[in-house]
Amino acid sequence: MVDLKALPEGFHENPYPHYAQLLEEAPVCLQPDGSVLLSRYDDLDLVYRDATRFISDKKAVFAPKFGDGSPLFEHHTTSLVFNDPPLHSRIRKVMVGAMNPRALKHMEPGLIALVEGLLDEMAGQDQVDLIESFAGAIPIEVIGNLLGIPHEERGPLRDWSLAILGALEPVLTEAELELGHASVREFKEYLKGVVADRRANPGDPEVDVLTRLLQTEGEALTEVELLQNCIFILNAGHETTTNLISNALGLLDKDRSARAALIENPKLLTTAVDEFLRMESPNQFGNRLTTEEVEFHGVTIPAGTDLHLCIGAANRDPRRFDDPGVMKLDRRPNKHLAFGGGGHTCVGLTLARMEGRIAVEGMLHHFPNYELTEGAKMGGRVRFRGFAYQPALLNKG
Ligand code: HEM
Repeated sequence: MVDLKALPEGFHENPYPHYAQLLEEAPVCLQPDGSVLLSRYDDLDLVYRDATRFISDKKAVFAPKFGDGSPLFEHHTTSLVFNDPPLHSRIRKVMVGAMNPRALKHMEPGLIALVEGLLDEMAGQDQVDLIESFAGAIPIEVIGNLLGIPHEERGPLRDWSLAILGALEPVLTEAELELGHASVREFKEYLKGVVADRRANPGDPEVDVLTRLLQTEGEALTEVELLQNCIFILNAGHETTTNLISNALGLLDKDRSARAALIENPKLLTTAVDEFLRMESPNQFGNRLTTEEVEFHGVTIPAGTDLHLCIGAANRDPRRFDDPGVMKLDRRPNKHLAFGGGGHTCVGLTLARMEGRIAVEGMLHHFPNYELTEGAKMGGRVRFRGFAYQPALLNKG
């Protein structure tokens, strides 16, 4: 059916026919390596909500994949997303606190100014790569601000982040693995300096995540936990948000009547952003590990099994969503799983929605007739769905 380590031709361009087949014919899809792929909405929902039978700790999976004690192993096994309580709860509490409504409100004017600035720069050109000039640039700046990383030092962040998250793909070349390790090493070294500086000059803990994390350090967070989770915030909020924005622009390129409706009524963006997230989920797969024997649809799955949770399929499960392949900008309710669910639900979801809304609104306002041109390329990843290259004519028509 679908073997994540040997994907059928064309899967990256369009995985949806494969997902539809999984949903109908193989909701419990055994993988040759013993892991199991689940795709139905109700199954994912159940797994996300049950943190006792389905845990996030991935040491057993990452040790053979990355090498016990290697940089990628240390990073991914220290990030809150791949941990269970108590480490998970300690770090999550600090991060949720840092994303408080005041901090988000504080960020909004800067975000609007950032988007307007990028659009103004683009206005001088006829054709641009929307990833480089727009969708990829926004989240780096937002998270750079969140962690207080100086502007002139943000250059390498995007590549580090892509390499570290890229290492989560089911199949890796030696070169990709090495790049992932090197990126963790370099990023960690770099952050040590930022942390030392912030220790000496603390920011406002209400709006500065790093200052907040530092204040709970000591008893609560070790130096390694602190550094690796700062790296995680950047990674978590970067590629995913780039994908949200570029996927939205891709969807609106194909559906001109939806675009016209949004131009006429930008308020629709509040629900439209969630529909973009459902239709083209930036994070297509999550994972959990079973702690005991479980059963899905008559199939028994042993304890210690790695489960792949196909968010991209669940978000198009017809048992949950009417006309799942149709984009309805005002879809309500729209309880998609693009941000996961349960105790690990995305901490940055309000920020991500805000970035998506402001970016798409700005783009439609400045370039209502933009048009993607030949050569657009998907990222070629299984876990993360988005464009690697998105060339567009800005002033068509
Ligand atoms: C459209 C953009 C985004 C998408 C689709 C997304 C998706 C997700 C998903 C699916 C998870 C759950 C992982 C799991 O349970 O296995 C998650 C967790 C997380 N996300 Fe996001 N995310 C986005 C943006 C952001 C942003 C902007 C930030 C922060 C600035 C962020 C921070 C986090 C953190 C800290 C976690 C870990 C939560 C935990 O383990 O308790 N995300 N995200």
